[in-house]
Amino acid sequence: MTGTSSQERDYIPGMGKHYLLPFYEVLHRVTALGRVHRDMVELAAPRRGDRVLDVGCGTGNLLRTTGKTGADLFGVDPDLKMLARAERKLRRAGIRARLDRGYAQELRFPDGSFDKVFSSLMLHHLDVASKDEMLAEVRRVLKPGGVFVLADTTRENAGERIAAAGFTVEPTRTRKLRVFREEIGIEVATAH
Ligand SMILES: C[S@@+](CC[C@H](N)C(=O)[O-])C[C@H]1O[C@@H](n2cnc3c(N)ncnc32)[C@H](O)[C@@H]1O
Repeated sequence: MTGTSSQERDYIPGMGKHYLLPFYEVLHRVTALGRVHRDMVELAAPRRGDRVLDVGCGTGNLLRTTGKTGADLFGVDPDLKMLARAERKLRRAGIRARLDRGYAQELRFPDGSFDKVFSSLMLHHLDVASKDEMLAEVRRVLKPGGVFVLADTTRENAGERIAAAGFTVEPTRTRKLRVFREEIGIEVATAH
C-alpha cells in the first residue's frame, strides 16, 4: 500500500460490519458478482497503458479482472483489512496495482489522472452529500473523454444520479444477483 488519506472519516465496511469481513469472498462467489465485474471491464474496455482507478476497491476482485487487460491499476478504499486482502490476492495473481487507503469523497490524485474509473457496489455505502462529493471527484480525476463505469443496486438509480452530476450516461445494463434467498437488481451505468 502506498498512501493514506489526510482526513479520517466514518465509513460503512463491505459487509456492513467489520467482523463479517471474512465472509466477503463467500458472498462474492455465491452472488456471482464476478459477472458484474466482467460486464464493467467489457464496458470500460481498458487498453494496455490506460490508467484505471477502482473507487471502493474492497478485496480487489474488480482490479484482478481488469489486470488481464494490461492497464495501470489503482485502487482506493478506507478499509485497511480489505486492502490487505486485495494486495495479497493481486500479488498472487501476478498483477501490479497501487492501493491507497482513502475515500471516494476525497480522491487524492491530480485532475485528469485516469482514463477509466470504476466503482462497484460502493455508492450505497455513502450518504447523499457524500455521493455528490464522490461524483464530483470522479469527474475531476477523469481525463477529458475518460469513461466512468459504476455498478450498484437498482435502488440507487445510479444512471439518473450520474446524469444529474453532469455526466453523459449511456443506456444502463441491469443484472439480477441472488443474495441467499433475496434477488437484487444491479445496474451498471457507463458515463463520459
Ligand atoms: C460492498 S463492498 C464492494 C467492494 C468491491 N468494490 C467489490 O465490488 O467487490 C463496498 C466497499 O466500499 C468501501 N467503502 C465504504 N465507504 C467508502 C468510501 N467513503 N470511499 C471509498 N470506499 C468506501 C468499503 O470499505 C468496501 O470495501
